[in-house]
Amino acid sequence: MSLPPPSLVTAATATDLPIRQIPGSYGFPLLGSLSDRLDYFWFQKPESFFRKRIEKYKSTVFRTNVPPSFPFFANVNPNVIALLDVKSFSHLFDMDLVDKKNVLVGDFVPDVAFTGNIRVSVYQDTTEPQHSKVKGYIMDILKRSSGIWVSELVSNLDIMWDSIEATLSKSSSAPYIFPLQQFLFTFLCKVLAGADPSRDPKIADSGYAMLDRWLALQLLPTVSIGILQPLEEIFLHSFAYPFFLVSGDYNNIYNFVKQQGKETINRGEIGFGLTQEEAIHNLIFVLGFNSFGGFSVFLPTLIDAIASNSALQEKLKNEARENGGSTLTFDSIKQMPLIQSVVYETLRMNPPVPLQYGRARTDFRLTSHDSVFDVKKGELLCGFQKLVMRDSLIFDEPDRFKPDRFTGEKGAQLLDYLYWSNGPQSASSTLSNKQCAGKEVVTLTAALIVAYLLRRYDSIIGDASSITTLQKAN
Ligand code: HEM
Repeated sequence: MSLPPPSLVTAATATDLPIRQIPGSYGFPLLGSLSDRLDYFWFQKPESFFRKRIEKYKSTVFRTNVPPSFPFFANVNPNVIALLDVKSFSHLFDMDLVDKKNVLVGDFVPDVAFTGNIRVSVYQDTTEPQHSKVKGYIMDILKRSSGIWVSELVSNLDIMWDSIEATLSKSSSAPYIFPLQQFLFTFLCKVLAGADPSRDPKIADSGYAMLDRWLALQLLPTVSIGILQPLEEIFLHSFAYPFFLVSGDYNNIYNFVKQQGKETINRGEIGFGLTQEEAIHNLIFVLGFNSFGGFSVFLPTLIDAIASNSALQEKLKNEARENGGSTLTFDSIKQMPLIQSVVYETLRMNPPVPLQYGRARTDFRLTSHDSVFDVKKGELLCGFQKLVMRDSLIFDEPDRFKPDRFTGEKGAQLLDYLYWSNGPQSASSTLSNKQCAGKEVVTLTAALIVAYLLRRYDSIIGDASSITTLQKAN
């Protein structure tokens, strides 16, 4: 397979491809969006929702509706243009073409009460001066935390895996989602906020559950949690739940961060010109929503990829033990290409944030692999990364998990098309784009966790929710 030139991922330019009207429709008012919502959550599920429409319209670009919609989302417009190949999707990274204001989860914006009545920066477009101020603050936090990142990671992993071993000594299976979230919460509070949960027993004990409830109430209208239908459609996807149900949880987290994270908050005020409230609420959002939320979805899929494949585990174990020195550091990971590749391949197959949005800033021509389409100013573009990163023109056997896909020279080129972070893995997050500020640290941390596990254990058996066997290394 020869890779297309890098220009493939740049903005639309004059091309010889045919100009085509965007296929698909939004259906009758209310009914069209309701029918699409039921298909999306219930009858088809997201992946086949998009796949079936690609087949129907013979196009990776088409019009459709995405949730939430009807009946109690009167101010939400569910109409989108779906972008489902690498070439059309990459327009979402061009800040001259798309506006990222208030489109984090589509046209629906959770009540700002969830974020202290402040529009946090993740909802801001790059043209809003506050965006670069806050992003600079978060990038500074990450830079300053690099000195303690790995030591905190390892010491908190020790606690988590000791507790899983203790459970396994009494039972045949150890569910690990809550231990994992407890680990993530403590680790992230320490490295990002400089706040130690053990100083506040209530937070140490159930801070992670407070974040879970706060996250769930914001995201419920847009995600499926797999309870019996039609109950989920009626009770979880028809209206937005109000903030007051989790105000106690949020206030507890707010008070904890304000008390214990003083130094980090001060830096936001003095170094980046934020008010105290802006610093705190943005910090809580990046810690609780982006980092805790992102890792809570991503790490179980990564553990599953390793714990359910003993042949792969053997190869990864050899790499983790033969390379990288006796103490794990970020530099150790550079000597572990297979582990890095497994991390990338897991993100390709199951991107933790599946949907990405951008609103056309202006009328422009959008290019897919086979056609050119006219997009009007104000239209909402929606990419479903899980299919975008299975584009068969870019990835061989796109539906197969290939652990070594991202190794070697060819593998390095493929990083131009690894889009889990709202931009290519090969490009940097900057103040003037909307790429995840944690892009580097997420993949390095995940690779470190894999290396840690394969140095600690000779064998790990389990899946995305529990561990059944742990054989400790001598
Ligand atoms: C597995 C973990 C993570 C995943 C899957 C993830 C994914 C993403 C995605 C997809 C976006 C783009 C959202 C959009 O605008 O459409 C994003 C943005 C962002 N992420 Fe992450 N992220 C993760 C961890 C982190 C971490 C650890 C940090 C920092 C501590 C972070 C900070 C941010 C920030 C600040 C933005 C907004 C960027 C901007 O406004 O320009 N993320 N993340």
